[in-house]
Amino acid sequence: MIKLTNLTKIYGKLTAVNHINLDVGSGEIFGFLGPNGAGKTTTIRMIAGLLQPTEGTAVIGEYDIQREAIQAKAITGFIPDRPYIYDKLTATEFMHFTASLYDLTDAKNRIIGLLELFGLVDWMDELVENYSHGMKQRLVMASALLHEPRVLVVDEPMVGLDPRGARLVKDIFKDLASKGVTVFMSTHTLEIVEQMCSRVAIINQGNIIAQGSVQDLGRMARMQDSHLEPIFLRLTGGDEVLDS
Ligand SMILES: Nc1ncnc2c1ncn2[C@@H]1O[C@H](COP(=O)(O)OP(=O)(O)O)[C@@H](O)[C@H]1O
Ligand SMILES: [Mg+2]
Repeated sequence: MIKLTNLTKIYGKLTAVNHINLDVGSGEIFGFLGPNGAGKTTTIRMIAGLLQPTEGTAVIGEYDIQREAIQAKAITGFIPDRPYIYDKLTATEFMHFTASLYDLTDAKNRIIGLLELFGLVDWMDELVENYSHGMKQRLVMASALLHEPRVLVVDEPMVGLDPRGARLVKDIFKDLASKGVTVFMSTHTLEIVEQMCSRVAIINQGNIIAQGSVQDLGRMARMQDSHLEPIFLRLTGGDEVLDS
């Protein structure tokens, strides 16, 4: 589970994330929606322990990400929006390197299994520099699952994936959630949220302006339509917010 309490990040005069409170349970796929610059990545980086909050706390499982960083990170998988992998490694080498960071012994079978799951097994001994963006992204996802995290924090997972890759990732996230993993993901794609998420929060200019199930948000926006797009546009105040 993830519990955010008054989580805040201030950059100079800009409050990028403003006292947000969220509770996400195990087995839940939680969608974190918002226009560009709303504060999604900043929030996710604080949850992953990569950015120190100005105020407030993020608790992962039973661990405070600031005070018990090692324990919190041991149960967290983080998938950034821009995959970064050393170009001169092969997928197999990158996976073994990641396994060593997590002190995993005997990771060989798990590595092969994950490369198979993400459709990379035929390329596993090629240098990453020859991979497409989508392949790099799938490799980063595979590596984030190596230590069997209980909580998965994902920034814009579908960007750069082709339809087959997106479908694969959706199925994998759903499967993980069905096994009790908490999935917290930011996205621009309302369709993804509608297909996958049990609950959603909408962040705008650092503030959570709505949260609940898709139906709850519809009621908040006083709309009959059960689709998220008009609700999102109404709550975030105009369609210019979708420019990206
Ligand atoms: N390191 C930084 N220094 C100053 N401002 C930043 C920094 N990182 C992000 N911001 C600002 O914080 C706001 C939220 O950014 P971000 O969390 O990346 O939004 P999102 O991921 O929702 O698009 C934006 O206005 C952005 O320009
Ligand atoms: Mg972002």
